[in-house]
Amino acid sequence: MAPHPPHLVYADNPVQNEPKSECGWESLRWAYERMRANLDEADYDVIVILSPHWQTYVGTHFLGLPNFKSKSVDPIFPNLFRFDYDIDVDVELSRMIHDEAQADGMVVKMMENPDFRVDYGTIVSCHLTRPQWDKPVVCISSNRANAYYSVEVMQEMAAQLGRATARAIEKSGKRALLLASNSLSHRHFITEPEIPEDMSAEHITSHHLYLWDMKLIEMMKQGKTKEIFDIMPEFTEQAVSESDGGAFSWILSALNFPTYPAIVHGYGTIIGTGNAVVEWPAEAAENAEVTPRGE
Ligand SMILES: [Fe+2]
Repeated sequence: MAPHPPHLVYADNPVQNEPKSECGWESLRWAYERMRANLDEADYDVIVILSPHWQTYVGTHFLGLPNFKSKSVDPIFPNLFRFDYDIDVDVELSRMIHDEAQADGMVVKMMENPDFRVDYGTIVSCHLTRPQWDKPVVCISSNRANAYYSVEVMQEMAAQLGRATARAIEKSGKRALLLASNSLSHRHFITEPEIPEDMSAEHITSHHLYLWDMKLIEMMKQGKTKEIFDIMPEFTEQAVSESDGGAFSWILSALNFPTYPAIVHGYGTIIGTGNAVVEWPAEAAENAEVTPRGE
């Protein structure tokens, strides 16, 4: 789980981002640091990401050209995020997931417009997870079934897409890192301090939302992901969660609902929203399962 508030990139001051900061949101940036250190140990070929900020209303879309390069400006925080991106896409795997989903009856489309601007959610989560930008990416859109139908319909589609994603990755033989790009509770303040990185202004918007975040995190730590899936509709509505984009449900389904404990690298708020950087070490858990006890 790789949340994408642009504040984290702003606070990191990479060369690609124009605005510069003094500091800020360290608890989350250090959480990303810890996750990166763990991921450096794992040798993976490709990053597969679902972002709630690439919103499609008819079906699920996939980036379908080998490279996308442009400037991304956050529509809400243009003062924090004006980022020059240059993204290599694993079109082969992208198309394989597309085909798997299509064969299962889903409405899908490859995005092949060379001028298409990649959303900032994808860019922020990928940058914070792998700032070297040396792994190709598969970018999946967020179908807004939540808007037309309900959270339940959104979640069923996300789960179906998760299964198709897992099947395609297995067939490809590639080692993939999956990223769900989303915050947990998502009610935010509507004004910004004069200095955006003034941490004296940063805290959760309400205790009620904090309780929801802690409940979800506790369940992740206990490996209760099926239970998370079951309460997702309630969580999404009550905590105004960014899980409405389907990324969280998608990743749990693609990982086949892990029962091993998630590694929670850290939690923090950004303009009042709740964010956690969380890792499900799928491969290590699988290896542990096949190793007989005592050996
Ligand atoms: Fe967002």
